[in-house]
Amino acid sequence: MFNGKDTMKNTAVLLGKTIINPGGFTIWLTGLSGCGKSTIADALAEKLQFNGHRPQRLDGDVIRQHLCKELGFSKEDRDENIRRATFLAKLLTDSGVITITTFISPYRELREYARKTIGSFMEVYVKCPIEVCMQRDPKGLYQKAIAGEIKNFTGVSDPYEAPTQPDVLLESDKETVEECVAKIIGKLDELMGAPLQSIA
Ligand code: ADX
Repeated sequence: MFNGKDTMKNTAVLLGKTIINPGGFTIWLTGLSGCGKSTIADALAEKLQFNGHRPQRLDGDVIRQHLCKELGFSKEDRDENIRRATFLAKLLTDSGVITITTFISPYRELREYARKTIGSFMEVYVKCPIEVCMQRDPKGLYQKAIAGEIKNFTGVSDPYEAPTQPDVLLESDKETVEECVAKIIGKLDELMGAPLQSIA
């Protein structure tokens, strides 16, 4: 049942549960491997779900197993990876989905391309010292990169162009996951003009 006339714009009541959809948005998390992008994105998605939204996650590791299977980690391949991810995020965003992406996306130019293409977009920089990422090394990839077994590894043998003016700056070695999620939701409220936090 959908009544867009006398209820809040884009508010639907499905099986007794209120689903408020104030419009699509892409929350673009960028940062080094192991900085905590996926952990924060998962917690954010869970929080939004709990509040009646239907967020969609687009994750680098997952997209690379399917849509970008043949791509590697040269600059050209990373750029193509981000172009495809941007295409997907735009489709979802235009369909009213809150889309949460987790790609290293090391190049400023391609992140700007994503921002311009998608429109309803915020860049979230998950900042974390590389020493901490190396200590965490959840996939054992830094160890392999340092040993030279993996080439072009971001932060070790490949560049990462840190955002200079992100919409949200998170410091995952200092802030808790809950604090990071709250900061993103606060910014979303501000940019979308809808109190996402208070939706029940
Ligand atoms: S991006 O640079 O094109 O944005 P993406 O986020 O899709 O990268 O994929 C990064 C993930 O691929 C890392 O989290 C890691 O698991 C894996 N990976 C494998 N090789 C590399 C590499 N050379 N550099 C960075 N990540 C790599």
